[in-house]
Amino acid sequence: MAKHIAIIGAGVSGLAAIKECLDNDLIPICFEQNSFIGGIWRYENVSEKNKEPYSSIYKSILTNTSKEMTTFSDFPIPADWPTYLNISLVEKYIDMYAEKFNLLPHIKFNTTVLNVSILPDKRWKVKYIIQHENEEKEEIFDFVMVCSGHHRKPRWPEYKGMDLFKGEQIHSHKYKRAVGFENKRVLVVGCGNSALDIAVDLTHAASQVYLSIRRGKLPWIIPRFVNGKARDHRTSRFSAYMIPPSIRGKMTENSIIKYFPFPSHLKPTDPLIATLPTINFEIFQCFAAGTVIVKPNIKELKSENKQIEFVDGTFLEDIDTIIYSTGYYIDYPFLEEQIFTGGDEIEQEFGKDFRDLVCLYKMLFPPKYPNIAFLGLVLGAGAIWPISEMQARYVTSHIKGFIKLPSQSKMEKSIRSYYESIHRNCCKAARSAIRLNYISYMDTLSKDIGCYPYSYEIIKKFGFKFWKLIMFGMVTPIQEGTLGMVQEKLLHFITKINLNQLLKERSINS
Ligand SMILES: Cc1cc2nc3c(=O)[nH]c(=O)nc-3n(C[C@H](O)[C@H](O)[C@H](O)COP(=O)(O)OP(=O)(O)OC[C@H]3O[C@@H](n4cnc5c(N)ncnc54)[C@H](O)[C@@H]3O)c2cc1C
Ligand SMILES: NC(=O)c1ccc[n+]([C@@H]2O[C@H](COP(=O)([O-])OP(=O)(O)OC[C@H]3O[C@@H](n4cnc5c(N)ncnc54)[C@H](OP(=O)(O)O)[C@@H]3O)[C@@H](O)[C@H]2O)c1
Repeated sequence: MAKHIAIIGAGVSGLAAIKECLDNDLIPICFEQNSFIGGIWRYENVSEKNKEPYSSIYKSILTNTSKEMTTFSDFPIPADWPTYLNISLVEKYIDMYAEKFNLLPHIKFNTTVLNVSILPDKRWKVKYIIQHENEEKEEIFDFVMVCSGHHRKPRWPEYKGMDLFKGEQIHSHKYKRAVGFENKRVLVVGCGNSALDIAVDLTHAASQVYLSIRRGKLPWIIPRFVNGKARDHRTSRFSAYMIPPSIRGKMTENSIIKYFPFPSHLKPTDPLIATLPTINFEIFQCFAAGTVIVKPNIKELKSENKQIEFVDGTFLEDIDTIIYSTGYYIDYPFLEEQIFTGGDEIEQEFGKDFRDLVCLYKMLFPPKYPNIAFLGLVLGAGAIWPISEMQARYVTSHIKGFIKLPSQSKMEKSIRSYYESIHRNCCKAARSAIRLNYISYMDTLSKDIGCYPYSYEIIKKFGFKFWKLIMFGMVTPIQEGTLGMVQEKLLHFITKINLNQLLKERSINS
């Protein structure tokens, strides 16, 4: 009998999950609390009617991953669209994807999942509420795919005097546009992607923008294009595996420094590969023009004169707004926390050294509960959408019994050794338990489910020239007509590839 799968959320991860379930003759029911698909990629203004928008996206956003790397594999983002997409194009692409694969009929909109709990027979009870009906309901499922995102619960810092400060204080989650900030003095806190995007955006309206960075040094800031290529087209399968990461990292550092001189006292000191770099281009112009001025960590917010004291003893006065761009907490309020954190033991052992501490095998399955999976819960990995898609294929392969997960203890061992490798290789600020490397992660999953592009098979089937593209070109997920037939250990993802388009795209970018 076909298995029933609950999918929580209809963002890009949830949509990929629905499609893979349908391809594998599973019965998906997707619960979506909003009245729309796309999750954070559906721009919403803050207004009287909508005081708590779901989306953390601001109007000026551009993807920081190129369209060739961000696309779903079997539905390429149109070749004539720009390399980096604005919000309107992202929304359009997501709508096109849902329409093409007829995903909407499988979504219950305006339906919030309240609780997910395991039954003695290992199935899951999902309790939910349809907003206009105001009545709680429940259904039983064989498997749950959690696709509810992790960029929604703001992480607020704590500073002395926050409650006394007379200016406005918001989190970047609520920042939407520079309108309303005309002639204001604004302090942005943080130096991740949100912080730098927002600081740059504000320079078009505010009289002065300041940026407070708690570590006193900037992170590595990588522009969207490096040496004339989209930054994520630069890594090929060959360079990923044959050039040691430290050398690759150094090469990128040198390319960045050549074009963007970091102010010497703010230059990052950790090697790029051990950190989580930020993607931005315009911020260097703002530093040079003085429209964004860097300050160290905040010491205290004062009650008088909208004054702020910093740890180096300097002060700013008349700060109208502080925008805390300090990231988000992982939050699954409908689940018992130990299901995804692994419980106290893991917390005690790794909690003080890690952020985003979760305990998931292959960033998907809690070892104790292999019939629930978390999709899209990854970081620093390049484009998330093809990862969510590959994860959905992996999970459906597991549900169908095409692959077998190891024992609980083996899964726990594998997670621990992953923590240890992150601990060894990353500086403290970048130690996140959901951090992964795009190529090696995708390769591990694709090998297990049987869609890894083995060299000898490619050469046999398509010849040496195509193999060269696979090895030395960008590692795009683009392919057309993915079958999802995971038993076929051969090249099912290559067999229907639209070679012409791939060759064209790769030659344009090589
Ligand atoms: C500002 C910003 C910019 C980003 N830029 C990029 C980029 O350029 N490239 C990239 O690859 N990634 C980027 N990301 C990462 C981004 O998170 C992913 O691209 C992707 O949107 C994740 O999709 P998701 O479906 O996993 O989560 P979401 O988009 O958050 O979707 C989750 C869905 O679950 C629903 N939901 C949540 N809880 C419940 C519940 N209890 N009941 C029912 N429904 C629920 C929500 O309503 C939502 O629709 C960015 C993130 C942020 C915050
Ligand atoms: N254009 C885009 O595509 C785009 C735009 C925005 C966001 N994103 C993505 O969305 C996700 C979230 O990004 P984000 O920038 O919102 O969050 P983030 O990546 O978690 O960055 C948070 C920043 O706040 C700082 N910070 C955290 N706690 C702090 C504290 N208590 N005091 C002072 N500073 C503190 C961090 O500094 P430390 O480094 O010192 O910890 C970091 O610089 C990321 O995956 C990002 O790639 C993408």
